[in-house]
Amino acid sequence: MLAHMDSPTTEAGQFWERHYRARRTWGGRVNPLLAETAAPLRPGAALDLGCGAGGDAVWLARRGWDVTAVDISPTAVERVRELGLQITTEQHDLAQSFPQGRFDLISAQYFHTPFPLLRGRILRTAAQALDPGGLLLIVDHGSTAPWSWDQNPGTHFPTPTETAADLDLDPALWSVVRAGTPSRQATGPAGETATVIDNVLIIQRTSE
Ligand SMILES: C[S@@+](CC[C@H](N)C(=O)[O-])C[C@H]1O[C@@H](n2cnc3c(N)ncnc32)[C@H](O)[C@@H]1O
Repeated sequence: MLAHMDSPTTEAGQFWERHYRARRTWGGRVNPLLAETAAPLRPGAALDLGCGAGGDAVWLARRGWDVTAVDISPTAVERVRELGLQITTEQHDLAQSFPQGRFDLISAQYFHTPFPLLRGRILRTAAQALDPGGLLLIVDHGSTAPWSWDQNPGTHFPTPTETAADLDLDPALWSVVRAGTPSRQATGPAGETATVIDNVLIIQRTSE
């Protein structure tokens, strides 16, 4: 039942809603850089921006994090809710609204969309929603996997430097703790493998 959620009215919302209505499996695999970053942390409040099929939210919830999972697609958030774990699910077009609260970890994994998006403004709002000591983990594609939904050769994925510049955060309150472009072996939905690059930026809130 999705009746209590808004049907997306924007082209972007309708695109992602169609994308997730066509999807069959939910939960699933955690993104490697989310697991690597969160594994050594003491669980607290986590926010997953653009949670999609919920693999990261599920992984965090199973490790004791108090997770809020957000997506523009009502089907995506409802299916994550239906997994029955202790995950708060909220539908937001993050260009219009942002979840309430303060967080110890905010994750934006491949927060890409083929539509115009004020990503810098959304991620800056995310940085402001961190508690002191909290981390904002932004992982973008640095290369396109052969099985990616976006095979447009003209797509430009932001580098960590570009994302940090876009965020334009006060260095007295936030600091960059990691900016890099690691490569890894990735496995696609049909078991195929390829080497992919990720653009990784981790920001820590250092002060109130
Ligand atoms: C490339 S997918 C990544 C999904 C997931 N984080 C992952 O790693 O598989 C981008 C996600 O951002 C969501 N999204 C796109 N625009 C959004 C917006 N304006 N507000 C909230 N979510 C949005 C999409 O619905 C989609 O789930």
